[in-house]
Amino acid sequence: MKKKLKVLALFDAIGPTTIDQDLSAELKTPDWKTEANVLAALGALAHTTEHLAIFDDLDLLRQKLESFAPDVLFNLADQFKNNRGFDQNIVSFLEMQGLPFTGCGATGLVLCKHKGISKKILSYHRIHTPNFVVIPRGQRIARPRQLKFPLLVKPVKEEASYGIAQASFVETDEQFRERVAFIHEKHDGDVIAEEYIAGRELYVSLMGNMKLTVFPIRELVFREVPPDEPKIATYRAKWDEEYRKRWGLENQFAEGLDPALVARIEQTCKRICRLLTIDGYARIDLRLTAANEVYFIEANPNPILAEDEDFAQSAAKAGLPYPQLIDRIIRHGMKTLRS
Ligand SMILES: Nc1ncnc2c1ncn2[C@@H]1O[C@H](COP(=O)(O)OP(=O)(O)O)[C@@H](O)[C@H]1O
Ligand SMILES: [Mg+2]
Repeated sequence: MKKKLKVLALFDAIGPTTIDQDLSAELKTPDWKTEANVLAALGALAHTTEHLAIFDDLDLLRQKLESFAPDVLFNLADQFKNNRGFDQNIVSFLEMQGLPFTGCGATGLVLCKHKGISKKILSYHRIHTPNFVVIPRGQRIARPRQLKFPLLVKPVKEEASYGIAQASFVETDEQFRERVAFIHEKHDGDVIAEEYIAGRELYVSLMGNMKLTVFPIRELVFREVPPDEPKIATYRAKWDEEYRKRWGLENQFAEGLDPALVARIEQTCKRICRLLTIDGYARIDLRLTAANEVYFIEANPNPILAEDEDFAQSAAKAGLPYPQLIDRIIRHGMKTLRS
């Protein structure tokens, strides 16, 4: 029998909160599915659990740590003051408190968030990454000649496909300039433009610290998208059920991959996690070309943990039911050495 723990589940909120706020109404809504799933799992595991949602006040957290004195914090807070760029700052605060917490530390979050910096590190270590250029706001919009169309224009620091639409796929300098300006102005963010890698869209889930476990590979299939059309996990492709139905978009286990190729993908993803100093658990987004070349697209430390999302689905397929998965994530969090 494993020791029962005092677990503080930490969430983010989109408006000011109080320390004993009743979140039962929020927890019934689709936006809070992950939080509700994790709380249910913590209950099933019979850990002593409390939760806190923070908006822009870290002092609430400090007070809660003092009054509840948890053994470990389950970190689901990935924005602060509605800014998704501040997830690493919350984690930096936790690191300074010396309290064990789940998931990735500040360094890993910073390295993965910047889609240019992560690619520079990985390409230095000879992992295939698309050629790219970063275009900060305020800089002249010019495409380096060696960067070949088609390109995919993205915010350099976003997640969940914010700012990614069919129009992100550009084939001319005019389309390129237009989309870069759109991201600069409407999304108020710097841009990364990457060579578009045609191929299968794979999602690889991993868990652990020094010793990493790779779960069965998931794939987003684009069943009804014509073969010569770009296949992109746009915002609508991820979150709009109608749209997913219309284009036959489905997340499923990747079929027909040669075992030697699977082994190569697993090794590559483990290296990616180590090189980007990811702790705890992660999902790596890849493209697999027709020639079986594996391209790194993006690393997601602390991927969405809802029970019906790819990460938990992969873990379940590997024989880890949801509550056990949550327990493992906690145990890894308690063992992670933070600088
Ligand atoms: N260089 C690329 N080549 C092909 N497809 C890409 C490329 N970059 C992004 N995509 C597509 O866009 C999706 C979202 O890009 P990603 O960098 O993972 O952003 P996010 O962090 O918003 O998930 C990917 O899952 C993939 O479908
Ligand atoms: Mg992604």
